Amino acid sequence: MIESFERAGTRSGTLDLSRLLEPVGLERFYAEHFGRAPLVIPRGDATFYDNLLTTDIDEILARDDVFYPTIRAYRNGSTVDPQTFTYTYELGGEFHRDVIDGGKLLALYEAGATLMFRGVERYSRAIMALRAEIETVLGTGTDVSMFVSPPEAHENIAAHYDGVDNIVLQISGRKRWRLWREPYENPLIEQPFCDVSSLAVDENLIADVVLEPGDLLYTPTGIVHQTDTTNSSSLHVTFGLNVPRWYHLLSRAALKIFRDVRNDERYRHALPLPAWVPGVEHDLDSAEYASLVADLRPRFELRDALRVLDDEHFRGKYPSRPGQLTSMAALGTLDADTRLIVVQTVPIRVTETTEHCLVEFHDNFLRLPRSAHLLVEAVVSGEPMRIGDLPGPATESSKIAIAKKLIREGLCVLAQA
Ligand SMILES: [Fe+2]
Repeated sequence: MIESFERAGTRSGTLDLSRLLEPVGLERFYAEHFGRAPLVIPRGDATFYDNLLTTDIDEILARDDVFYPTIRAYRNGSTVDPQTFTYTYELGGEFHRDVIDGGKLLALYEAGATLMFRGVERYSRAIMALRAEIETVLGTGTDVSMFVSPPEAHENIAAHYDGVDNIVLQISGRKRWRLWREPYENPLIEQPFCDVSSLAVDENLIADVVLEPGDLLYTPTGIVHQTDTTNSSSLHVTFGLNVPRWYHLLSRAALKIFRDVRNDERYRHALPLPAWVPGVEHDLDSAEYASLVADLRPRFELRDALRVLDDEHFRGKYPSRPGQLTSMAALGTLDADTRLIVVQTVPIRVTETTEHCLVEFHDNFLRLPRSAHLLVEAVVSGEPMRIGDLPGPATESSKIAIAKKLIREGLCVLAQA
């Protein structure tokens, strides 16, 4: 069964969030569904996600460099003990532990288990590009997982909710989804999860749908869900969106206050007497306490906290840089006719100062001459550009020199002819 999920070739770049959300559209998605209500898009087009997955699953399972917990297995509402499908081998005196045993996983699948693959973007440039685009448009951290279930897989993963929003793409086969009301509004991934077994009952049912190949399902955080297959196997990919909430913003602002007050000697004074000493009562209404509390308010900087949050998102994950090695190998052949294209998986910030053009990316930056600003802006616009046609620096050799720097950092690569 698994062989039928094989995909060949790539149509990378053609599938973006706007296309995914057709015919609902981004605007209506924001207004009516994002963080609010589930959405099902029955597409009626089984080929819609063709070429999204560019690696055969058998190929992944045949590798000896895939480690638990990259792949998990679920059966009858429980996680399968990883010791039953992992092994250790020794190579040159080094031990490689928790290596996934593809044969044993396939046997589990045949016996009815659902397999979950995490970090699927590593196996597909199209998914890598789509994840980067979703992260940019929605401003969320995003994890991509793939679920493979055999026919007649019932409740392999017990009814649960996730502390993230989910966008589910049904790639092949069919899957029945039942959705129930959330245990409470907008649960955070940072909060302890509660038992929802009593919530997955008819009076809380929101939707009972069967996703067909090409369909999309969106669920906001907290929606309780459970899936089943019937007479068909199923493969779907889930983009888990860790949406920044007010809690995240305020917690960054509060953390900054805690760090600040350590440097203010008034907050380092000993309390009059520890409150647990028998007979001691703190006067919480005293003028001293009131002024210490009042002086916290001006330290509360939402704008700074927003910058911190933005920076965490910007630098959060080590970005993949597909095509970097090949392009670096061709550095010596660059000329005015060479065409460049930006690497969409690397978030880039470009700032023009009075003297320089500053290009920031992940945990590093490039300080280029100010004249490079237009050139870098043109490259990051996304269109393939001929080096000779790039604006900014006056001479061809300067353009090539800057192009080389961008390629070395994996920010752009040579565009295919
Ligand atoms: Fe889930």
